[in-house]
Amino acid sequence: IKYVPEPFRIKMVEKIKMLTREERIEKIKEAKYNLFNLAAEDVYIDLLTDSGTNAMSDDQWAGIMKGDEAYAGGKSYFKVLETVQSIFNYNFVQPVHQGRAAEKVLFPLLLQKGKVAISNMFFDTTRAHVELAGARAIDCVVPEAKNPELRANFKGNMDVEKLEKIILEHGPENVGLIVMTITNNSAGGQPVSIDNMRNVSKIAKKYNIKICIDAARFAENAFFIKEREDEFKNSSIEEITKIMFSYGDMFTMSAKKDAILNMGGLLGVKNDEELFGKVKANCICFEGFTTYGGLSGRDLEAMAQGLKEGMDEDFLRYRIGQIQYLASKLDDENIAYQSPAGGHGIFVDAKAMFPHIPYNEYPGQALAIELYIEAGIRTCDIGSYMLGNDPDSGKQLEADFEFTRLAIPRRVYTQAHFDIMAEALLEIKKRSSSIKGYKITWEPPILRHFQASLEPL
Ligand code: F0G
Repeated sequence: IKYVPEPFRIKMVEKIKMLTREERIEKIKEAKYNLFNLAAEDVYIDLLTDSGTNAMSDDQWAGIMKGDEAYAGGKSYFKVLETVQSIFNYNFVQPVHQGRAAEKVLFPLLLQKGKVAISNMFFDTTRAHVELAGARAIDCVVPEAKNPELRANFKGNMDVEKLEKIILEHGPENVGLIVMTITNNSAGGQPVSIDNMRNVSKIAKKYNIKICIDAARFAENAFFIKEREDEFKNSSIEEITKIMFSYGDMFTMSAKKDAILNMGGLLGVKNDEELFGKVKANCICFEGFTTYGGLSGRDLEAMAQGLKEGMDEDFLRYRIGQIQYLASKLDDENIAYQSPAGGHGIFVDAKAMFPHIPYNEYPGQALAIELYIEAGIRTCDIGSYMLGNDPDSGKQLEADFEFTRLAIPRRVYTQAHFDIMAEALLEIKKRSSSIKGYKITWEPPILRHFQASLEPL
């Protein structure tokens, strides 16, 4: 398929360097085979994440100059408040410094020991905050998501039948929260349909359980709905967004993704004033006064502007198109990935690339290391290496997938960079049978993939 041309031109550039293959082999060894330990300077194409790595626009940079740095009641805060209320139709809005800060502020108010939270799929920090609050996190994604080869329109959806079963198993009074992650990052940036959100909301109402939308990539989700859900093909991104959020009671958002920022987050509560009072108290303790929430006034200005740019349909067509372009190159080479391609990246099926590497030798991490050695591309494992150990038994869990994620920063890389990504994967595929797995030599108790040390087997 054709590359969708950029709906912008480049005004400022940043130099990147390329090491030799021998230098990269040395660097990754020094990094203990953990890509988070690499110096970013030693990376050529950085696809570790699409979070906070986006290029801001001239209008966002202009906002940076205008930020009001008052401790309380700054102008930039009111701009964010108005923008967010008008986009999502939620009464109460709290800025925070990033997504996990919203989780930290909100989750302990709804989850304690003995409770469970159920999601179409928890992102790793979201799962960690459920567990830190003392509760247990249960994933409940549709079975289609677990088959990377199977092309379905909404592989991010909640398995609604299973959701009801889990609620009855644990007792509705013990289900503290339902989390709808849009798009479903861990399943491959896969979208969730409005129809699915509607059905989940019906069940939540039936059992009197609140829904929290994990809204990091809400605009990409809205674009997929417009493209794939017949009922909404003539609706605007703005209209679809309002409908999606009407099925939630609150949302947490990392604004480092679809709001095209380098730092920022949001917490929204639709109409529960009592809950929002507690949110504000926690925010003051953890993040700072309510009108800045851990951010500078300038960040708030960039957020108000970025939220609008992230919902621009031409931008979203280019953004999703870039990823579909890479996917079509992988199709040509028979390289398996979570298909169809998701919103923020390509999740290459490392299990299919390395059938000889078992889950507890981390095929997704092995492919991430090879991509760095091959072309200086930094990616990450979304598989058993990231999932970690069972919090009760301490045993390595087996993930449903073993993916290597190529997460694409917004407005940063061009068509030629995408060609390099595809070529590197093809070169690795050619020598895949000679590639070995890894073992962990040190790991911290929680979110280990950020810090662990590894060794080749
Ligand atoms: N929820 C989802 C779905 C996410 O993808 C992330 C972050 C968060 C919450 C937490 O937000 O980083 O601002 O604290 N995802 C990034 C990623 C880190 O690389 O996918 P945060």
